[in-house]
Amino acid sequence: MNAFESYLHTFLFSAYPYICMVVFLMGSLARYDRDQYTWKSDSSQLLRTGVLRWGSNMFHVGILFLFFGHFAGLLTPHWVYEPFITPANKQLVAITAGGIAGFICFIGLSLLIYRRIFDPRIRLTSHRTDLAILIILWVQLTLGLITLPYSLSHADGSVMLVLSDWAQRVFTFRVGDAAGLIPLAWPYKVHLVLGMTIFLLFPFSRLVHVWSGFATVFYLFRPRQVVRSRRLNLPAGHNQPRQPGV
Ligand code: HEM
Repeated sequence: MNAFESYLHTFLFSAYPYICMVVFLMGSLARYDRDQYTWKSDSSQLLRTGVLRWGSNMFHVGILFLFFGHFAGLLTPHWVYEPFITPANKQLVAITAGGIAGFICFIGLSLLIYRRIFDPRIRLTSHRTDLAILIILWVQLTLGLITLPYSLSHADGSVMLVLSDWAQRVFTFRVGDAAGLIPLAWPYKVHLVLGMTIFLLFPFSRLVHVWSGFATVFYLFRPRQVVRSRRLNLPAGHNQPRQPGV
Protein backbone atom coordinates (compact mmCIF):
# COMPACT_ATOMS: atom_id res chain seq x y z
CA MET A 1 0.00 0.00 0.00
CA ASN A 2 1.55 3.34 -1.04
CA ALA A 3 1.20 6.58 0.94
CA PHE A 4 -1.89 7.74 -0.99
CA GLU A 5 -3.71 4.41 -0.58
CA SER A 6 -2.86 4.37 3.10
CA TYR A 7 -4.18 7.93 3.52
CA LEU A 8 -7.36 7.05 1.58
CA HIS A 9 -7.89 3.92 3.69
CA THR A 10 -7.55 5.85 6.95
CA PHE A 11 -9.89 8.56 5.67
CA LEU A 12 -12.58 6.14 4.44
CA PHE A 13 -12.63 3.85 7.46
CA SER A 14 -11.68 6.20 10.29
CA ALA A 15 -13.01 9.68 9.41
CA TYR A 16 -15.73 9.06 6.81
CA PRO A 17 -17.94 7.01 9.21
CA TYR A 18 -18.20 10.05 11.48
CA ILE A 19 -18.85 12.47 8.61
CA CYS A 20 -21.72 10.21 7.50
CA MET A 21 -23.06 9.81 11.02
CA VAL A 22 -23.11 13.57 11.68
CA VAL A 23 -24.78 14.37 8.33
CA PHE A 24 -27.30 11.56 8.91
CA LEU A 25 -28.32 12.79 12.37
CA MET A 26 -28.07 16.57 11.91
CA GLY A 27 -29.45 16.42 8.35
CA SER A 28 -32.47 14.38 9.48
CA LEU A 29 -33.11 16.82 12.32
CA ALA A 30 -32.82 19.85 10.00
CA ARG A 31 -35.09 18.28 7.36
CA TYR A 32 -37.70 17.42 10.00
CA ASP A 33 -37.52 20.92 11.44
CA ARG A 34 -37.48 22.94 8.20
CA ASP A 35 -39.25 20.82 5.63
CA GLN A 36 -41.86 18.63 7.27
CA TYR A 37 -44.17 18.51 4.24
CA THR A 38 -41.46 16.65 2.30
CA TRP A 39 -40.97 14.12 5.13
CA LYS A 40 -42.80 11.15 3.62
CA SER A 41 -42.40 7.85 1.80
CA ASP A 42 -43.90 9.49 -1.31
CA SER A 43 -46.15 6.52 -2.01
CA SER A 44 -47.06 5.98 -5.65
CA GLN A 45 -49.66 3.35 -4.85
CA LEU A 46 -52.51 5.62 -6.03
CA LEU A 47 -50.89 5.90 -9.45
CA ARG A 48 -50.44 2.16 -10.01
CA THR A 49 -50.55 -0.77 -7.59
CA GLY A 50 -49.60 -3.73 -9.87
CA VAL A 51 -45.90 -4.55 -9.53
CA LEU A 52 -45.66 -2.37 -6.39
CA ARG A 53 -47.56 -4.92 -4.33
CA TRP A 54 -44.93 -7.65 -4.77
CA GLY A 55 -41.96 -5.32 -5.29
CA SER A 56 -42.46 -3.12 -2.25
CA ASN A 57 -43.45 -5.97 0.10
CA MET A 58 -40.55 -8.24 -0.88
CA PHE A 59 -38.11 -5.32 -0.77
CA HIS A 60 -39.25 -4.14 2.68
CA VAL A 61 -39.35 -7.64 4.23
CA GLY A 62 -35.81 -8.27 2.96
CA ILE A 63 -34.31 -4.88 3.80
CA LEU A 64 -35.77 -4.78 7.33
CA PHE A 65 -34.38 -8.24 8.05
CA LEU A 66 -31.00 -7.21 6.66
CA PHE A 67 -31.04 -3.93 8.60
CA PHE A 68 -31.68 -5.57 11.98
CA GLY A 69 -29.39 -8.49 11.07
CA HIS A 70 -26.49 -6.11 10.36
CA PHE A 71 -27.24 -4.10 13.48
CA ALA A 72 -27.29 -7.09 15.83
CA GLY A 73 -24.60 -9.06 13.99
CA LEU A 74 -22.06 -6.25 13.84
CA LEU A 75 -22.68 -4.53 17.15
CA THR A 76 -23.20 -7.42 19.58
CA PRO A 77 -19.91 -7.73 21.52
CA HIS A 78 -18.06 -11.02 21.10
CA TRP A 79 -18.28 -11.92 24.82
CA VAL A 80 -22.11 -11.73 24.75
CA TYR A 81 -22.60 -14.53 22.22
CA GLU A 82 -19.35 -16.45 22.87
CA PRO A 83 -20.86 -18.84 25.49
CA PHE A 84 -23.67 -19.85 23.07
CA ILE A 85 -22.27 -19.94 19.53
CA THR A 86 -18.85 -20.15 17.89
CA PRO A 87 -17.79 -17.42 15.43
CA ALA A 88 -17.83 -20.03 12.63
CA ASN A 89 -21.46 -20.98 13.33
CA LYS A 90 -22.49 -17.36 13.80
CA GLN A 91 -21.04 -16.56 10.39
CA LEU A 92 -22.86 -19.55 8.89
CA VAL A 93 -26.17 -18.31 10.35
CA ALA A 94 -25.43 -14.81 8.99
CA ILE A 95 -24.58 -16.13 5.52
CA THR A 96 -27.69 -18.34 5.34
CA ALA A 97 -30.23 -15.92 6.82
CA GLY A 98 -28.64 -12.89 5.10
CA GLY A 99 -28.48 -14.77 1.79
CA ILE A 100 -32.19 -15.64 1.88
CA ALA A 101 -33.25 -12.12 2.96
CA GLY A 102 -30.86 -10.61 0.41
CA PHE A 103 -32.36 -12.71 -2.38
CA ILE A 104 -35.96 -11.71 -1.45
CA CYS A 105 -34.87 -8.07 -1.23
CA PHE A 106 -33.05 -8.32 -4.56
CA ILE A 107 -36.17 -9.52 -6.39
CA GLY A 108 -38.32 -6.81 -4.75
CA LEU A 109 -35.83 -4.05 -5.49
CA SER A 110 -35.40 -5.17 -9.10
CA LEU A 111 -39.21 -5.06 -9.54
CA LEU A 112 -39.33 -1.55 -8.03
CA ILE A 113 -36.60 -0.34 -10.42
CA TYR A 114 -38.32 -1.96 -13.41
CA ARG A 115 -41.59 -0.26 -12.45
CA ARG A 116 -39.98 3.14 -11.94
CA ILE A 117 -38.22 3.03 -15.34
CA PHE A 118 -40.79 1.30 -17.55
CA ASP A 119 -44.16 2.41 -16.17
CA PRO A 120 -44.73 5.76 -17.93
CA ARG A 121 -47.00 7.12 -15.17
CA ILE A 122 -44.48 6.34 -12.46
CA ARG A 123 -41.52 7.59 -14.52
CA LEU A 124 -43.19 10.93 -15.23
CA THR A 125 -44.02 11.55 -11.57
CA SER A 126 -40.62 10.41 -10.22
CA HIS A 127 -37.99 12.74 -8.89
CA ARG A 128 -34.38 12.06 -9.91
CA THR A 129 -33.51 10.97 -6.38
CA ASP A 130 -36.33 8.36 -6.39
CA LEU A 131 -34.59 6.30 -9.06
CA ALA A 132 -31.09 7.17 -7.83
CA ILE A 133 -31.78 5.84 -4.32
CA LEU A 134 -33.26 2.60 -5.71
CA ILE A 135 -30.18 2.04 -7.89
CA ILE A 136 -27.78 2.83 -5.03
CA LEU A 137 -29.61 0.34 -2.79
CA TRP A 138 -29.52 -2.24 -5.61
CA VAL A 139 -25.74 -1.83 -6.08
CA GLN A 140 -25.24 -2.06 -2.30
CA LEU A 141 -27.34 -5.20 -2.11
CA THR A 142 -25.51 -6.79 -5.04
CA LEU A 143 -22.15 -6.02 -3.40
CA GLY A 144 -23.43 -7.63 -0.20
CA LEU A 145 -24.44 -10.74 -2.14
CA ILE A 146 -21.03 -10.79 -3.90
CA THR A 147 -19.30 -10.98 -0.47
CA LEU A 148 -21.10 -14.25 0.37
CA PRO A 149 -18.72 -16.60 -1.52
CA TYR A 150 -15.75 -14.70 -0.02
CA SER A 151 -17.17 -15.24 3.48
CA LEU A 152 -17.79 -18.92 2.73
CA SER A 153 -14.10 -19.28 1.91
CA HIS A 154 -13.28 -18.06 5.48
CA ALA A 155 -15.54 -20.53 7.24
CA ASP A 156 -13.82 -19.92 10.60
CA GLY A 157 -15.66 -16.57 10.98
CA SER A 158 -12.42 -14.56 11.00
CA VAL A 159 -13.61 -11.93 8.50
CA MET A 160 -16.85 -11.45 10.43
CA LEU A 161 -14.81 -10.84 13.60
CA VAL A 162 -12.64 -8.22 11.83
CA LEU A 163 -15.73 -6.42 10.49
CA SER A 164 -17.63 -6.43 13.78
CA ASP A 165 -14.53 -5.30 15.66
CA TRP A 166 -14.24 -2.32 13.27
CA ALA A 167 -17.96 -1.45 13.58
CA GLN A 168 -17.84 -1.61 17.39
CA ARG A 169 -14.71 0.55 17.45
CA VAL A 170 -16.44 3.14 15.26
CA PHE A 171 -19.44 3.22 17.60
CA THR A 172 -17.30 3.52 20.70
CA PHE A 173 -14.95 6.15 19.18
CA ARG A 174 -11.86 3.87 19.30
CA VAL A 175 -11.44 3.30 15.55
CA GLY A 176 -7.74 4.26 15.19
CA ASP A 177 -6.31 3.73 11.69
CA ALA A 178 -8.64 0.78 10.86
CA ALA A 179 -5.58 -1.28 9.86
CA GLY A 180 -7.50 -4.53 10.50
CA LEU A 181 -9.56 -3.94 7.33
CA ILE A 182 -6.55 -3.65 5.00
CA PRO A 183 -6.29 -7.36 4.05
CA LEU A 184 -10.02 -7.68 3.25
CA ALA A 185 -11.21 -8.35 -0.32
CA TRP A 186 -12.46 -5.35 -2.34
CA PRO A 187 -16.21 -6.19 -2.25
CA TYR A 188 -16.22 -5.84 1.55
CA LYS A 189 -14.51 -2.45 1.39
CA VAL A 190 -16.75 -1.06 -1.36
CA HIS A 191 -19.81 -2.44 0.48
CA LEU A 192 -18.73 -0.61 3.66
CA VAL A 193 -18.07 2.70 1.88
CA LEU A 194 -21.35 2.62 -0.06
CA GLY A 195 -23.22 1.58 3.09
CA MET A 196 -21.87 4.65 4.91
CA THR A 197 -22.72 6.80 1.87
CA ILE A 198 -26.36 5.68 2.10
CA PHE A 199 -26.46 7.17 5.62
CA LEU A 200 -24.92 10.34 4.17
CA LEU A 201 -27.63 10.63 1.49
CA PHE A 202 -30.45 9.57 3.81
CA PRO A 203 -31.64 13.05 4.91
CA PHE A 204 -31.77 14.29 1.29
CA SER A 205 -34.03 11.53 -0.02
CA ARG A 206 -37.35 9.80 0.70
CA LEU A 207 -35.40 7.48 3.00
CA VAL A 208 -36.35 9.81 5.87
CA HIS A 209 -39.59 7.81 6.03
CA VAL A 210 -37.57 5.03 7.71
CA TRP A 211 -37.41 7.14 10.91
CA SER A 212 -41.20 7.36 10.85
CA GLY A 213 -41.49 3.66 9.98
CA PHE A 214 -39.61 2.75 13.15
CA ALA A 215 -41.56 5.33 15.14
CA THR A 216 -44.81 3.50 14.28
CA VAL A 217 -43.92 1.15 17.18
CA PHE A 218 -45.19 3.91 19.48
CA TYR A 219 -48.63 3.43 17.93
CA LEU A 220 -48.92 0.33 20.12
CA PHE A 221 -48.57 2.46 23.26
CA ARG A 222 -50.57 5.54 22.27
CA PRO A 223 -53.47 6.61 24.49
CA ARG A 224 -56.78 5.25 23.23
CA GLN A 225 -58.94 7.54 21.15
CA VAL A 226 -62.18 8.80 22.64
CA VAL A 227 -64.82 9.03 19.95
CA ARG A 228 -68.07 10.83 20.74
CA SER A 229 -70.97 10.85 18.37
CA ARG A 230 -72.50 14.32 18.12
CA ARG A 231 -75.33 13.13 15.88
CA LEU A 232 -76.80 10.67 18.41
CA ASN A 233 -75.80 12.80 21.40
CA LEU A 234 -74.54 9.77 23.32
CA PRO A 235 -71.93 9.81 26.09
CA ALA A 236 -68.40 8.52 25.28
CA GLY A 237 -68.19 4.74 24.97
CA HIS A 238 -71.87 4.41 23.98
CA ASN A 239 -71.68 5.12 20.29
CA GLN A 240 -73.68 2.11 19.09
CA PRO A 241 -76.79 3.21 17.21
CA ARG A 242 -79.91 3.07 19.38
CA GLN A 243 -82.42 0.33 18.65
CA PRO A 244 -85.82 1.71 17.64
CA GLY A 245 -88.10 2.09 20.65
CA VAL A 246 -85.27 1.72 23.22
C1 HEM B 1 -39.32 1.01 9.07
C2 HEM B 1 -40.26 0.52 8.41
C3 HEM B 1 -40.65 1.02 7.04
C4 HEM B 1 -41.89 1.39 6.65
C5 HEM B 1 -43.15 1.39 7.51
C6 HEM B 1 -41.82 1.79 5.25
C7 HEM B 1 -42.89 2.24 4.49
C8 HEM B 1 -42.85 2.57 3.16
C9 HEM B 1 -43.99 2.98 2.36
C10 HEM B 1 -45.41 3.11 2.86
C11 HEM B 1 -43.53 3.22 1.11
C12 HEM B 1 -44.34 3.68 -0.10
C13 HEM B 1 -44.70 2.50 -0.96
C14 HEM B 1 -45.72 2.95 -1.98
O1 HEM B 1 -45.35 3.51 -3.02
O2 HEM B 1 -46.91 2.79 -1.69
C15 HEM B 1 -42.12 2.99 1.10
C16 HEM B 1 -41.30 3.13 0.00
C17 HEM B 1 -39.94 2.95 0.00
N1 HEM B 1 -39.16 2.55 1.08
FE1 HEM B 1 -39.84 2.09 2.93
N2 HEM B 1 -40.53 1.68 4.83
C18 HEM B 1 -39.77 1.20 5.88
C19 HEM B 1 -38.38 0.92 5.88
C20 HEM B 1 -37.56 1.13 4.78
C21 HEM B 1 -36.13 0.86 4.75
C22 HEM B 1 -35.31 0.31 5.95
C23 HEM B 1 -35.68 1.23 3.53
C24 HEM B 1 -34.28 1.21 2.94
C25 HEM B 1 -33.19 1.48 3.59
C26 HEM B 1 -36.82 1.71 2.76
C27 HEM B 1 -36.75 2.17 1.45
C28 HEM B 1 -37.85 2.52 0.68
C29 HEM B 1 -37.77 2.94 -0.71
C30 HEM B 1 -36.49 3.05 -1.53
C31 HEM B 1 -39.08 3.18 -1.13
C32 HEM B 1 -39.52 3.61 -2.52
C33 HEM B 1 -39.99 2.42 -3.32
C34 HEM B 1 -40.54 2.86 -4.68
O3 HEM B 1 -39.74 3.05 -5.59
O4 HEM B 1 -41.74 3.06 -4.79
N3 HEM B 1 -37.94 1.62 3.54
N4 HEM B 1 -41.74 2.58 2.37
